[in-house]
Amino acid sequence: MSNANDNNGQLNTQSDSSKEKPWGGRFTEPTDAFVEQFTASVEFDQRLYFHDIQGSIAHATMLAKVGVLTEEEKTQIIQGLKEVQAEIESGKFQWSVKLEDVHMNVEAALTEKIGITGKKLHTGRSRNDQVATDIRLYLRDEIDVIASEITRLQDGMARLAKREAATIMPGFTHLQTAQPVTFGHHILAWNEMLQRDYERLMDCRKRVNIMPLGAAALAGTTYPIDRSITAELLGFDRPSENSLDSVSDRDFAIEFCSFASLVMIHLSRASEELILWASAQFDFIDLPDRFCTGSSIMPQKKNPDVPELVRGKSGRVTGHMISLLMLMKSQPLAYNEDNQEDKEPLFDV
Ligand code: ARG
Repeated sequence: MSNANDNNGQLNTQSDSSKEKPWGGRFTEPTDAFVEQFTASVEFDQRLYFHDIQGSIAHATMLAKVGVLTEEEKTQIIQGLKEVQAEIESGKFQWSVKLEDVHMNVEAALTEKIGITGKKLHTGRSRNDQVATDIRLYLRDEIDVIASEITRLQDGMARLAKREAATIMPGFTHLQTAQPVTFGHHILAWNEMLQRDYERLMDCRKRVNIMPLGAAALAGTTYPIDRSITAELLGFDRPSENSLDSVSDRDFAIEFCSFASLVMIHLSRASEELILWASAQFDFIDLPDRFCTGSSIMPQKKNPDVPELVRGKSGRVTGHMISLLMLMKSQPLAYNEDNQEDKEPLFDV
């Protein structure tokens, strides 16, 4: 068992420079400028700032509860983190590529504000479990937004289906006119697809909502942390079971992308039908002008750009799912830098 004071021994007190790399202790030359650029992720992972700070506040709160931080240190850290957050949100924050990623940028800014105590925030933690936690917190929030958007779309479809319950249209097989159905019947088929997508998303959320924090770099920590406290503070269902797995696997992100691919494939099918129906050849529906674009040289045209783009974007989403699968393929335990590449596809999805 250790206490807060033992931690001072681990700190690099050579210099107070906030731009100094926290892992620089054993190095004798500065990082090559190209390598610095190549390995930095701050350009895209700054998007995680809110969840990174949320995770850090919970971590500091837990560290104080178990006696690793004093109450005063905790208060200072949380206050400092809130100031950093406000600075980021005001657009004044200076992100530094030298500081690699969002985690080191936030920590450096905190340390600049409150001094050496800022470095104690990272006690019993590694960026490996930190980033795994941040992505899960971020994704959980995105999932909740997407879930409510699916429900909104389903509500619209249900209303339309009710209105069109008696509107006769041809049903197709092989895109050949087959038997009469109603427009309401057809729309409810789309609604059913979305219902399964919604259920898949909710199922994915269960596995996203497990907390990796506490796994540290790969093998946990000797500090007397209490993971049930952080899990509860962050709204996770429970802490994860295996530290090696916790910091390394991104299957939850792949699962989300697989849900997203399916929902996009479904939307591409509905879009394709809207495009066909709006054509002069079918002439089943008239899309509102405000959702279409035109052509100066062919004034008779009204282009269904919106469903065409939905159809087009479905390919991109499925591509990102494949990227993440390939990213994960054959990675040995535990964390590898490869995983830094998980963010851009996931954010885009
Ligand atoms: N930026 C990394 C990522 O996004 C987190 C840091 C990983 N740790 C390390 N020692 N390189 O995955």
